[in-house]
Amino acid sequence: MAPFVQSNGASILEDLFIILHSQNMKEQLIKIQKQAEREIDSISSLEGLETFRIQYLGKKGHVTSALKKLGELPPEERPEIGEMANSVKAEISLMLERAKNRLKSGEIKKEYIDITLQGRAPARGRLHPIDIVNREICDIFVKMGYRIVQGPNVELDYYNFEALNFPKDHPARDMQDTFYVSEGVVLRTHTSPMQVRVMEKQQPPVGIIAPGKVYRSDSDVSHTPMFHQVEGLLVDKGITFGDLKGTLTGFVHQMFGKDVALRFRPSFFPFTEPSAEVDIQCVICHGKGCRTCGNSGWIEILGAGMVDPAVYGFVNYDPEIYSGFAFGMGIERVAMLKYGIDDIQLFFRNDMRFLRQFY
Ligand code: PHE
Repeated sequence: MAPFVQSNGASILEDLFIILHSQNMKEQLIKIQKQAEREIDSISSLEGLETFRIQYLGKKGHVTSALKKLGELPPEERPEIGEMANSVKAEISLMLERAKNRLKSGEIKKEYIDITLQGRAPARGRLHPIDIVNREICDIFVKMGYRIVQGPNVELDYYNFEALNFPKDHPARDMQDTFYVSEGVVLRTHTSPMQVRVMEKQQPPVGIIAPGKVYRSDSDVSHTPMFHQVEGLLVDKGITFGDLKGTLTGFVHQMFGKDVALRFRPSFFPFTEPSAEVDIQCVICHGKGCRTCGNSGWIEILGAGMVDPAVYGFVNYDPEIYSGFAFGMGIERVAMLKYGIDDIQLFFRNDMRFLRQFY
Protein backbone atom coordinates (compact mmCIF):
# COMPACT_ATOMS: atom_id res chain seq x y z
CA MET A 1 0.00 0.00 0.00
CA ALA A 2 2.82 2.36 0.77
CA PRO A 3 4.10 2.44 -2.84
CA PHE A 4 0.70 3.63 -4.11
CA VAL A 5 0.39 6.49 -1.68
CA GLN A 6 1.83 9.90 -2.57
CA SER A 7 2.87 12.59 -0.18
CA ASN A 8 -0.47 14.47 -0.44
CA GLY A 9 -2.30 11.29 0.42
CA ALA A 10 -4.06 10.71 -2.91
CA SER A 11 -3.49 7.36 -4.47
CA ILE A 12 -1.90 7.12 -7.91
CA LEU A 13 -4.91 5.24 -9.18
CA GLU A 14 -7.14 8.13 -8.18
CA ASP A 15 -4.92 10.58 -10.10
CA LEU A 16 -4.92 8.32 -13.11
CA PHE A 17 -8.70 8.22 -13.09
CA ILE A 18 -8.92 12.00 -13.05
CA ILE A 19 -6.41 12.40 -15.88
CA LEU A 20 -8.23 9.84 -18.01
CA HIS A 21 -11.57 11.40 -17.27
CA SER A 22 -10.56 14.95 -18.21
CA GLN A 23 -8.68 13.65 -21.23
CA ASN A 24 -11.84 11.92 -22.26
CA MET A 25 -13.88 15.10 -21.92
CA LYS A 26 -11.46 17.05 -24.06
CA GLU A 27 -11.63 14.45 -26.77
CA GLN A 28 -15.36 14.39 -26.58
CA LEU A 29 -15.64 18.16 -26.95
CA ILE A 30 -13.34 18.11 -29.99
CA LYS A 31 -15.42 15.33 -31.46
CA ILE A 32 -18.62 17.31 -30.95
CA GLN A 33 -17.19 20.36 -32.70
CA LYS A 34 -15.84 18.31 -35.63
CA GLN A 35 -19.14 16.57 -36.09
CA ALA A 36 -21.01 19.89 -36.04
CA GLU A 37 -18.64 21.25 -38.68
CA ARG A 38 -19.33 18.25 -40.89
CA GLU A 39 -23.09 18.46 -40.53
CA ILE A 40 -23.69 22.17 -40.86
CA ASP A 41 -22.77 22.51 -44.56
CA SER A 42 -25.26 19.94 -45.73
CA ILE A 43 -28.19 21.65 -44.02
CA SER A 44 -30.38 23.28 -46.64
CA SER A 45 -33.39 24.61 -44.68
CA LEU A 46 -34.07 26.78 -41.67
CA GLU A 47 -35.98 23.87 -40.07
CA GLY A 48 -32.91 21.72 -40.46
CA LEU A 49 -30.88 24.41 -38.73
CA GLU A 50 -33.29 24.46 -35.76
CA THR A 51 -32.97 20.70 -35.37
CA PHE A 52 -29.23 21.11 -35.48
CA ARG A 53 -29.35 23.83 -32.82
CA ILE A 54 -31.42 21.66 -30.47
CA GLN A 55 -29.15 18.70 -31.07
CA TYR A 56 -26.04 20.61 -30.06
CA LEU A 57 -27.02 23.57 -27.92
CA GLY A 58 -30.47 22.53 -26.64
CA LYS A 59 -31.15 21.58 -23.01
CA LYS A 60 -30.31 17.99 -23.71
CA GLY A 61 -27.87 18.76 -26.52
CA HIS A 62 -24.33 17.44 -26.83
CA VAL A 63 -22.61 20.56 -25.57
CA THR A 64 -25.02 21.11 -22.70
CA SER A 65 -24.60 17.53 -21.52
CA ALA A 66 -20.86 17.88 -21.64
CA LEU A 67 -21.07 21.05 -19.58
CA LYS A 68 -23.22 19.24 -17.03
CA LYS A 69 -20.53 16.62 -16.60
CA LEU A 70 -18.10 19.32 -15.48
CA GLY A 71 -19.29 18.74 -11.96
CA GLU A 72 -17.88 15.23 -11.99
CA LEU A 73 -14.37 16.57 -12.47
CA PRO A 74 -12.08 17.52 -9.62
CA PRO A 75 -12.24 21.30 -9.02
CA GLU A 76 -8.74 22.01 -10.39
CA GLU A 77 -9.68 20.52 -13.77
CA ARG A 78 -12.93 22.39 -14.14
CA PRO A 79 -11.69 25.82 -15.32
CA GLU A 80 -9.74 24.43 -18.31
CA ILE A 81 -12.41 22.01 -19.49
CA GLY A 82 -15.12 24.57 -18.75
CA GLU A 83 -13.37 27.14 -20.89
CA MET A 84 -13.03 24.64 -23.68
CA ALA A 85 -16.69 23.67 -23.53
CA ASN A 86 -17.70 27.32 -23.72
CA SER A 87 -15.50 27.93 -26.73
CA VAL A 88 -17.05 24.93 -28.50
CA LYS A 89 -20.46 26.35 -27.70
CA ALA A 90 -19.47 29.75 -29.10
CA GLU A 91 -17.99 28.11 -32.19
CA ILE A 92 -21.20 26.21 -32.90
CA SER A 93 -23.33 29.33 -32.34
CA LEU A 94 -21.17 31.08 -34.94
CA MET A 95 -21.66 28.21 -37.40
CA LEU A 96 -25.40 28.50 -36.91
CA GLU A 97 -25.31 32.25 -37.53
CA ARG A 98 -23.33 31.84 -40.73
CA ALA A 99 -25.53 29.03 -42.01
CA LYS A 100 -28.61 31.14 -41.32
CA ASN A 101 -27.17 34.02 -43.39
CA ARG A 102 -26.23 31.66 -46.17
CA LEU A 103 -29.74 30.22 -46.35
CA LYS A 104 -31.41 33.61 -46.09
CA SER A 105 -29.38 35.11 -48.95
CA GLY A 106 -30.61 32.16 -50.95
CA GLU A 107 -27.21 31.02 -52.11
CA ILE A 108 -27.49 27.32 -51.46
CA LYS A 109 -24.86 26.48 -53.95
CA LYS A 110 -23.60 22.97 -54.05
CA GLU A 111 -20.03 22.98 -55.11
CA TYR A 112 -19.09 20.28 -57.51
CA ILE A 113 -16.75 19.71 -60.40
CA ASP A 114 -18.06 18.47 -63.72
CA ILE A 115 -15.16 16.52 -65.08
CA THR A 116 -16.92 15.99 -68.41
CA LEU A 117 -16.94 19.73 -69.12
CA GLN A 118 -14.62 20.78 -71.97
CA GLY A 119 -11.52 22.72 -70.98
CA ARG A 120 -11.22 26.37 -71.88
CA ALA A 121 -8.72 26.92 -74.67
CA PRO A 122 -6.28 29.72 -73.87
CA ALA A 123 -6.90 32.72 -76.16
CA ARG A 124 -4.42 32.66 -79.02
CA GLY A 125 -2.66 35.83 -80.06
CA ARG A 126 -2.71 36.98 -83.65
CA LEU A 127 -1.14 39.63 -85.81
CA HIS A 128 -2.51 43.14 -85.89
CA PRO A 129 -3.97 43.95 -89.35
CA ILE A 130 -1.24 46.57 -89.83
CA ASP A 131 1.40 43.92 -89.20
CA ILE A 132 -0.28 41.53 -91.60
CA VAL A 133 -0.33 44.07 -94.41
CA ASN A 134 3.16 45.30 -93.56
CA ARG A 135 4.50 41.75 -93.91
CA GLU A 136 2.63 41.27 -97.16
CA ILE A 137 4.10 44.46 -98.62
CA CYS A 138 7.60 43.56 -97.48
CA ASP A 139 7.29 40.01 -98.84
CA ILE A 140 6.46 41.32 -102.31
CA PHE A 141 9.54 43.56 -102.39
CA VAL A 142 11.85 41.01 -100.78
CA LYS A 143 10.95 38.63 -103.61
CA MET A 144 12.03 41.35 -106.05
CA GLY A 145 15.41 41.44 -104.28
CA TYR A 146 14.99 44.35 -101.86
CA ARG A 147 16.57 44.25 -98.42
CA ILE A 148 14.60 45.27 -95.30
CA VAL A 149 16.17 47.94 -93.08
CA GLN A 150 14.93 49.76 -90.01
CA GLY A 151 15.94 52.96 -88.26
CA PRO A 152 15.18 55.31 -85.39
CA ASN A 153 11.76 56.86 -84.77
CA VAL A 154 13.36 59.74 -82.90
CA GLU A 155 15.31 61.25 -85.76
CA LEU A 156 17.73 64.06 -86.40
CA ASP A 157 16.39 67.03 -88.31
CA TYR A 158 19.36 66.41 -90.59
CA TYR A 159 18.04 63.04 -91.83
CA ASN A 160 14.34 63.90 -91.70
CA PHE A 161 14.68 67.18 -93.59
CA GLU A 162 18.04 68.67 -94.35
CA ALA A 163 19.74 65.84 -96.24
CA LEU A 164 16.45 65.26 -98.06
CA ASN A 165 16.83 68.70 -99.56
CA PHE A 166 14.37 70.48 -97.27
CA PRO A 167 16.31 73.70 -96.65
CA LYS A 168 15.89 75.35 -93.24
CA ASP A 169 12.77 77.54 -93.13
CA HIS A 170 11.64 76.10 -96.43
CA PRO A 171 7.82 76.11 -96.66
CA ALA A 172 7.89 72.43 -97.65
CA ARG A 173 8.60 71.62 -93.99
CA ASP A 174 5.09 72.84 -93.21
CA MET A 175 3.64 70.05 -95.39
CA GLN A 176 4.29 67.74 -92.48
CA ASP A 177 3.11 68.76 -89.02
CA THR A 178 6.21 67.85 -87.13
CA PHE A 179 6.54 66.81 -83.48
CA TYR A 180 9.72 68.41 -82.21
CA VAL A 181 11.65 66.60 -79.47
CA SER A 182 14.37 69.18 -78.96
CA GLU A 183 16.56 71.48 -81.02
CA GLY A 184 17.51 69.51 -84.13
CA VAL A 185 15.60 66.36 -83.05
CA VAL A 186 12.14 65.32 -84.29
CA LEU A 187 9.83 62.32 -84.37
CA ARG A 188 10.34 61.27 -87.96
CA THR A 189 7.51 62.49 -90.16
CA HIS A 190 8.20 59.88 -92.86
CA THR A 191 10.46 56.89 -93.50
CA SER A 192 12.47 58.81 -96.14
CA PRO A 193 15.35 59.53 -93.70
CA MET A 194 16.22 55.85 -94.16
CA GLN A 195 17.17 56.64 -97.77
CA VAL A 196 19.96 58.90 -96.52
CA ARG A 197 21.01 56.61 -93.66
CA VAL A 198 21.46 53.70 -96.06
CA MET A 199 23.12 55.61 -98.88
CA GLU A 200 25.70 57.32 -96.65
CA LYS A 201 26.89 53.85 -95.57
CA GLN A 202 27.26 52.15 -98.95
CA GLN A 203 27.79 52.78 -102.64
CA PRO A 204 25.25 51.59 -105.27
CA PRO A 205 23.71 49.28 -106.18
CA VAL A 206 21.30 49.75 -103.30
CA GLY A 207 17.80 48.31 -103.08
CA ILE A 208 16.06 48.64 -99.71
CA ILE A 209 12.63 48.88 -98.17
CA ALA A 210 12.22 50.47 -94.76
CA PRO A 211 8.96 49.82 -92.92
CA GLY A 212 8.16 51.61 -89.68
CA LYS A 213 6.21 54.09 -87.62
CA VAL A 214 6.03 57.77 -88.50
CA TYR A 215 4.50 60.72 -86.63
CA ARG A 216 2.55 63.83 -87.57
CA SER A 217 0.45 66.17 -85.48
CA ASP A 218 -2.80 65.32 -87.21
CA SER A 219 -5.94 63.39 -86.24
CA ASP A 220 -9.26 62.67 -88.01
CA VAL A 221 -10.99 59.76 -89.83
CA SER A 222 -8.07 59.44 -92.24
CA HIS A 223 -5.19 60.63 -90.03
CA THR A 224 -3.67 59.45 -86.75
CA PRO A 225 -0.70 61.09 -85.00
CA MET A 226 1.25 57.85 -85.48
CA PHE A 227 0.95 55.74 -88.58
CA HIS A 228 3.07 53.40 -90.68
CA GLN A 229 4.96 53.73 -93.92
CA VAL A 230 7.11 51.55 -96.11
CA GLU A 231 9.90 53.39 -97.87
CA GLY A 232 11.49 51.97 -101.02
CA LEU A 233 14.77 52.98 -102.65
CA LEU A 234 16.59 51.62 -105.67
CA VAL A 235 19.78 53.25 -106.97
CA ASP A 236 22.06 51.85 -109.63
CA LYS A 237 23.39 52.64 -113.08
CA GLY A 238 20.68 53.38 -115.62
CA ILE A 239 17.57 53.28 -113.41
CA THR A 240 14.68 55.13 -115.09
CA PHE A 241 11.20 56.35 -114.35
CA GLY A 242 10.03 53.34 -116.39
CA ASP A 243 11.59 51.07 -113.76
CA LEU A 244 9.66 52.93 -111.09
CA LYS A 245 6.40 52.50 -112.99
CA GLY A 246 7.05 48.82 -113.65
CA THR A 247 8.01 48.13 -110.03
CA LEU A 248 4.97 49.86 -108.56
CA THR A 249 2.61 48.35 -111.13
CA GLY A 250 3.94 44.90 -110.29
CA PHE A 251 3.46 45.63 -106.61
CA VAL A 252 -0.13 46.88 -106.95
CA HIS A 253 -1.08 43.89 -109.10
CA GLN A 254 0.28 41.47 -106.51
CA MET A 255 -1.31 43.34 -103.64
CA PHE A 256 -4.75 44.12 -105.07
CA GLY A 257 -5.11 42.00 -108.20
CA LYS A 258 -4.13 42.21 -111.85
CA ASP A 259 -7.19 44.17 -112.94
CA VAL A 260 -6.55 47.17 -110.67
CA ALA A 261 -5.39 50.20 -112.65
CA LEU A 262 -2.77 52.78 -111.50
CA ARG A 263 -2.21 56.38 -112.41
CA PHE A 264 0.78 58.63 -111.85
CA ARG A 265 0.02 62.28 -111.11
CA PRO A 266 2.75 64.93 -111.22
CA SER A 267 3.60 66.15 -107.73
CA PHE A 268 6.39 67.69 -105.70
CA PHE A 269 8.76 66.40 -103.04
CA PRO A 270 12.05 68.19 -102.30
CA PHE A 271 13.98 64.91 -102.52
CA THR A 272 12.64 63.56 -105.82
CA GLU A 273 12.63 65.04 -109.30
CA PRO A 274 10.38 64.40 -111.11
CA SER A 275 7.89 63.50 -108.38
CA ALA A 276 4.59 61.72 -108.61
CA GLU A 277 1.67 60.67 -106.49
CA VAL A 278 0.30 57.29 -107.36
CA ASP A 279 -3.40 56.49 -107.27
CA ILE A 280 -5.01 53.11 -107.70
CA GLN A 281 -8.47 52.48 -108.97
CA CYS A 282 -10.81 52.47 -105.97
CA VAL A 283 -11.05 48.83 -104.93
CA ILE A 284 -14.31 49.47 -103.07
CA CYS A 285 -16.37 50.75 -106.05
CA HIS A 286 -14.02 49.55 -108.84
CA GLY A 287 -13.64 53.07 -110.17
CA LYS A 288 -17.32 53.96 -110.31
CA GLY A 289 -17.07 56.51 -107.51
CA CYS A 290 -18.03 56.12 -103.84
CA ARG A 291 -17.67 57.72 -100.41
CA THR A 292 -14.24 56.22 -99.80
CA CYS A 293 -12.71 57.64 -103.03
CA GLY A 294 -14.66 60.90 -102.83
CA ASN A 295 -16.53 59.93 -106.01
CA SER A 296 -13.35 60.22 -108.07
CA GLY A 297 -12.89 56.48 -108.60
CA TRP A 298 -9.20 56.82 -107.57
CA ILE A 299 -7.38 56.57 -104.27
CA GLU A 300 -3.88 57.85 -103.51
CA ILE A 301 -1.63 55.22 -101.99
CA LEU A 302 1.90 56.55 -102.28
CA GLY A 303 4.37 59.27 -103.16
CA ALA A 304 7.31 58.52 -105.43
CA GLY A 305 9.86 59.92 -107.82
CA MET A 306 13.40 59.84 -109.14
CA VAL A 307 15.95 60.60 -106.42
CA ASP A 308 16.87 64.29 -106.66
CA PRO A 309 20.58 64.81 -107.49
CA ALA A 310 20.71 67.23 -104.57
CA VAL A 311 20.27 64.26 -102.22
CA TYR A 312 23.21 62.45 -103.84
CA GLY A 313 25.29 65.46 -102.84
CA PHE A 314 24.70 64.63 -99.16
CA VAL A 315 25.76 60.97 -99.50
CA ASN A 316 28.61 61.26 -101.99
CA TYR A 317 26.99 59.48 -104.92
CA ASP A 318 27.97 60.67 -108.39
CA PRO A 319 24.71 61.73 -110.13
CA GLU A 320 26.50 61.49 -113.48
CA ILE A 321 26.93 57.74 -112.94
CA TYR A 322 23.94 56.72 -110.81
CA SER A 323 20.24 57.26 -110.86
CA GLY A 324 17.41 55.80 -108.83
CA PHE A 325 13.87 56.01 -107.64
CA ALA A 326 12.20 56.17 -104.24
CA PHE A 327 8.67 55.70 -103.03
CA GLY A 328 6.85 55.87 -99.72
CA MET A 329 3.46 54.35 -99.02
CA GLY A 330 1.09 54.46 -96.06
CA ILE A 331 0.43 51.00 -94.67
CA GLU A 332 -2.90 52.01 -93.09
CA ARG A 333 -4.08 53.25 -96.48
CA VAL A 334 -3.26 49.93 -98.08
CA ALA A 335 -4.87 47.99 -95.21
CA MET A 336 -8.04 50.10 -95.37
CA LEU A 337 -8.37 49.41 -99.09
CA LYS A 338 -7.56 45.76 -98.72
CA TYR A 339 -10.11 45.15 -95.96
CA GLY A 340 -12.67 47.86 -96.85
CA ILE A 341 -12.21 49.84 -93.59
CA ASP A 342 -13.42 53.44 -93.64
CA ASP A 343 -12.03 54.78 -90.33
CA ILE A 344 -8.28 54.72 -89.70
CA GLN A 345 -8.81 55.18 -85.93
CA LEU A 346 -10.15 51.62 -85.72
CA PHE A 347 -6.60 50.29 -86.08
CA PHE A 348 -5.53 51.88 -82.82
CA ARG A 349 -8.55 51.51 -80.54
CA ASN A 350 -7.60 47.96 -79.57
CA ASP A 351 -11.20 46.74 -79.78
CA MET A 352 -10.88 42.96 -79.85
CA ARG A 353 -14.12 42.60 -81.86
CA PHE A 354 -12.41 44.52 -84.66
CA LEU A 355 -8.96 42.97 -84.34
CA ARG A 356 -10.20 39.39 -84.20
CA GLN A 357 -11.45 39.60 -87.79
CA PHE A 358 -7.99 39.46 -89.35
CA TYR A 359 -5.71 36.50 -89.81
N1 PHE B 1 8.11 60.68 -97.75
C1 PHE B 1 7.02 61.12 -98.59
C2 PHE B 1 5.80 61.37 -97.70
O1 PHE B 1 5.74 60.87 -96.60
C3 PHE B 1 6.65 60.08 -99.62
C4 PHE B 1 7.73 59.83 -100.61
C5 PHE B 1 8.70 58.86 -100.40
C6 PHE B 1 7.77 60.58 -101.77
C7 PHE B 1 9.69 58.64 -101.33
C8 PHE B 1 8.75 60.35 -102.71
C9 PHE B 1 9.69 59.40 -102.49
O2 PHE B 1 4.90 62.08 -98.06
